[in-house]
Amino acid sequence: MSSRAVELTSQSGPPARPGAILDVRDLSVEYLLDSGIVAAVDRVSFSLGAGEFVAIVGESGCGKSTLLFAIAQLLSPPAEITGGSVLFQGRNLVGLTDSQLTAIRWKDLSVVMQSAMNALNPVKSIGAQFKDAMRAHGVNSREEIAARSAEVLRMVGIDPLHLHSYPHQLSGGMRQRSMIAMALLFTPKLVIMDEPTSALDVVAQRSLMVQIKELQQQFGFAVIFVTHDMSLVSHFSDHLMVMYAGQVAELGPTQQLFDSPAHPYTAGLMEAFPSIRGPRRPLKGIPGSPPDLARPPHGCRFAPRCPKVMDRCRAEPPGLYNVDGTQVRCVLYEGGAGRGSAS
Ligand SMILES: Nc1ncnc2c1ncn2[C@@H]1O[C@H](COP(=O)(O)OP(=O)(O)O)[C@@H](O)[C@H]1O
Ligand code: SF4
Ligand SMILES: [Mg+2]
Repeated sequence: MSSRAVELTSQSGPPARPGAILDVRDLSVEYLLDSGIVAAVDRVSFSLGAGEFVAIVGESGCGKSTLLFAIAQLLSPPAEITGGSVLFQGRNLVGLTDSQLTAIRWKDLSVVMQSAMNALNPVKSIGAQFKDAMRAHGVNSREEIAARSAEVLRMVGIDPLHLHSYPHQLSGGMRQRSMIAMALLFTPKLVIMDEPTSALDVVAQRSLMVQIKELQQQFGFAVIFVTHDMSLVSHFSDHLMVMYAGQVAELGPTQQLFDSPAHPYTAGLMEAFPSIRGPRRPLKGIPGSPPDLARPPHGCRFAPRCPKVMDRCRAEPPGLYNVDGTQVRCVLYEGGAGRGSAS
């Protein structure tokens, strides 16, 4: 049998794809605390083509939010980017000044965070906040601002009358929709979303997700979407990144990861969620919890919880292997094994 797994020359993933609008390369972030350093993101690399939808999953504390903040250049002390680059439309965002970033934010790249209540200004109406965002980009015509503000609210299914509403007057779902409307004021190329539906009930989550997907298909922006909900992922994303303890555990086309999870952690995540299409089966879950990133295990970070662990897994960190066009950080693939060897 021919060897299908190839160890990547560095830990940094495959080379950027031609035409990618975003290329994140070897990105590392640390929280510099009095008690020590927390390495929250460790040399993460991936690229995203125009109009693609990548979901990032992993348990709480795996570095998902820190990664998004680092991509959007929204980190503040004690967090610091300690290495790597974020090429967005060919330009490295790392190291740009605030005014250079302001020119890009909202217009080309926008961010929707977990809680719109925290992101929206409580003492300004929705309309006033839209106006501020448009004025920051040189749109001063009252008519143009009013027309576009009403248009984006309609796009997310909210009556433009709510431009006069304050955030506390809206339901949680409407606040999230308003944030998404604000993110679309300028038809950006990339929208970064950190668990935008997690505060909502299941029915509201699903309808908001459907709407996000429709807007994405209509306007063609790329999406990076963090969630811990695997059932959302399977329906809405093209690509899936599984993060564990600050690192990429597995990355590839969503369908491929669902059909034959390669990394034991991915396999565990799949089993921890009820199958949407297949027959019901018991939730096995993954015993234990992710490591403290101030003191990660020396070898494979998943070793303490891995059902496939071997002695050598604890001795040194596994490489990142290219397995049938996906990337997997696990020694099971060192010898050229194909996908599905974890099951
Ligand atoms: N403001 C902060 N100060 C110190 N450590 C932080 C801070 N925010 C996050 N961390 C640490 O960084 C790691 C990754 O956190 P986070 O990016 O929030 O993960 P996720 O979004 O996957 O839950 C965790 O170990 C967390 O404790
Ligand atoms: S390297 Fe070893 S411990 Fe880590 S995921 Fe693979 S088999 Fe499990
Ligand atoms: Mg988070």
